Amino acid sequence: MDLDGIDAIGRTAFEVALLRAAEDRRPDRLFADPCARLFLDAAGITGEKPEFAAVMGPQVAVRTRFLDDALLSGEARQVVLVASGMDGRPWRLGWPGGTEVFEIDQAPVLRFKDAAAASLTARCVRRPVVADLRSDWAVALQEAGFRPERPTAWLTEGLLYALDEAAADGLLSTITGLSATGSTIAFDHVEASDALRTAIGPELLRLWRSGPTDPARWLTRHGWEPDVSDLADIAAKYGRRIHLAYDPAAGGTARAWLGRAVLLGQER
Ligand SMILES: C[S@@+](CC[C@H](N)C(=O)[O-])C[C@H]1O[C@@H](n2cnc3c(N)ncnc32)[C@H](O)[C@@H]1O
Repeated sequence: MDLDGIDAIGRTAFEVALLRAAEDRRPDRLFADPCARLFLDAAGITGEKPEFAAVMGPQVAVRTRFLDDALLSGEARQVVLVASGMDGRPWRLGWPGGTEVFEIDQAPVLRFKDAAAASLTARCVRRPVVADLRSDWAVALQEAGFRPERPTAWLTEGLLYALDEAAADGLLSTITGLSATGSTIAFDHVEASDALRTAIGPELLRLWRSGPTDPARWLTRHGWEPDVSDLADIAAKYGRRIHLAYDPAAGGTARAWLGRAVLLGQER
């Protein structure tokens, strides 16, 4: 299956899939993700980058489990995976009956994913939405059947660090404008620390931006009630070691977060 038309940022979805496939092989895995291997096989991708895996492998493992739990613990039956890449959740999570899962990403990414997953049966009503998050994606989402009056569970995973602060603000403004009271958002974020800069390599580094420098304040400013944790604390709960740079117990000063937030009442 060809990757034609998938740009550098789109290809980062396969870097994440490599890390999820590695987690899937562990006897003490935090989640099962057979889709990751399926997508990689369809793309003909095998190799892993050891330095990148050392920093981001534990982050991807811990974040995936945390965000799985966050998505399944909510009441919303309308879910939006913003920039879904090779996220296998439509197929691998046990969604409550009738859940609609919208997947927003670029056309070539979704075209590849739809073809690669053709033999699989989604465990939800899956609605791929081709859109560019830098333009008016709210229209495309609503044309695909999204209804703003229903509470929504949003996911922004592996995305905030590719945005600058203004773009992160724009994204959250749009999400907020589409969200009924009680909607939730779950996310991860990783500060562009020196340790990360060394490990991720020049190709990925070019795509890295600051994102929101204080995720809790960013959410509060937009009317959300945040519950944000350090990656190190969530990793400790799962008994998983993270890269030392992100582990305050080991003297690490780099910041990485996982969080959820609920939208407080707003006039529609
Ligand atoms: C690092 S991957 C993360 C994918 C997925 N959320 C996960 O954690 O597995 C980033 C994804 O964001 C998508 N993306 C980046 N910029 C985008 C844009 N402007 N519009 C739509 N999708 C975008 C890419 O195509 C890619 O699939």
